[in-house]
Amino acid sequence: MTKPPSPPTARICVPCRLAAIGAVVVVLAGGFAYTAGWLTPKRLTTQRIVNTLETNGGVHPGYRRNHAKGLCVEGYFDSNGNAASLSKAAVFAPGRTPVLGRFAIPGGNPVAPDGSVPVRSFALQFTQADGQQWRTGMNNTPLFIVHTPQQFYQQLVASKPDPATGKPDPAKMKAFVAANPEARPFLAWLKAHPPSSGFDNSAYYSINAFNFIDASGNSHAVRWAVQPDTPYAPMNDAQKGTVDFLSADLAQRLQAGPVKWHLLVTVAAPTDPTDDATLQWPAERQQIDAGTLVIEHASSQEDGACRDVNYDPTILPDGIRPSNDPLLAARSAAYAVSFNRRTREEALDPDLHRPKPAAPQTPPGPQSQQTSPQTGARS
Ligand code: HEM
Repeated sequence: MTKPPSPPTARICVPCRLAAIGAVVVVLAGGFAYTAGWLTPKRLTTQRIVNTLETNGGVHPGYRRNHAKGLCVEGYFDSNGNAASLSKAAVFAPGRTPVLGRFAIPGGNPVAPDGSVPVRSFALQFTQADGQQWRTGMNNTPLFIVHTPQQFYQQLVASKPDPATGKPDPAKMKAFVAANPEARPFLAWLKAHPPSSGFDNSAYYSINAFNFIDASGNSHAVRWAVQPDTPYAPMNDAQKGTVDFLSADLAQRLQAGPVKWHLLVTVAAPTDPTDDATLQWPAERQQIDAGTLVIEHASSQEDGACRDVNYDPTILPDGIRPSNDPLLAARSAAYAVSFNRRTREEALDPDLHRPKPAAPQTPPGPQSQQTSPQTGARS
């Protein structure tokens, strides 16, 4: 009687099987190592971008790696229905949607002087009745300094504080701008628009383009902005020397009643670039007033509800989609790394955001300005 043929697996020799398993392990380990950037130390990874933010701003456990100094706000968006023809997102149907927001200034230092930077930011999380969310992080400039994540990284490297002065080396920034002329319109805009005296009297812009999807499935390229009801006033000289005027002014304003903005949606013409945040669209583009954003309460970011929110701009409800702007994916990845680091630090140290015991009294002087009375943050 002839022996039946062995099943195919039985014919593979044991050392060969072990070698195959080993090869799979090596490939997987290599994949992880590549993703982490260990095999290609020169390749730009999200970790490298966030590490460079930390190099520039310092590591402040439990705080965002950029836009570290800020405060939480709460209110709602009253939609008038005007944008519903462009987007089927429930937030644009007539009615009210609760909003959890955060005002901030850029940089990694949670106790930086408010007057030290010309940019203010406003992040919003709209939560629709169906549970879907629209998250957006806006700055007070209608355009950005760079149009690729690589340039963003190079700009971070160029603006690393010089250990001798504690400030960026102007020669390095000059060289960056010479090599990246796309930065010029942003710098010119900043020069022509002094920062506002408060968070409440500034406009804020999505900067990046997005796509609104209407009920028939048609896509409309848009950018959005919130325009304040409170008239703009520039930061004054007294404020320039004050560490914490932005949150104090806002708290005072809110005592007198809610603060409002109009949500304006700008619709692109087919020729307008959607992948380049350094380019503004022509001023005559169609603009729709979608409703009123109302902010009623503020709280510190150490115990306010915005603390553990990741304002990832690609978290969008049905009816809004990211555009082809390469900054959007890079932002999403970087915000996730920053969020993971800061929430891990919170988990490891339950006392991180608790007020510290009162320090011995020191006479007023430059040292006493290192702690923010508004945020309770430590230096
Ligand atoms: C490649 C480009 C960019 C990178 C790598 C980057 C990186 C970051 C990081 C790491 C954070 C902290 C996130 C967190 O821990 O929650 C942050 C916050 C923020 N960024 Fe960016 N950013 C970029 C571009 C932009 C642009 C174009 C805008 C403006 C539209 C912007 C607006 C903001 C705002 C408003 C916040 C604060 C969000 C909050 O209050 O929680 N960023 N950014």
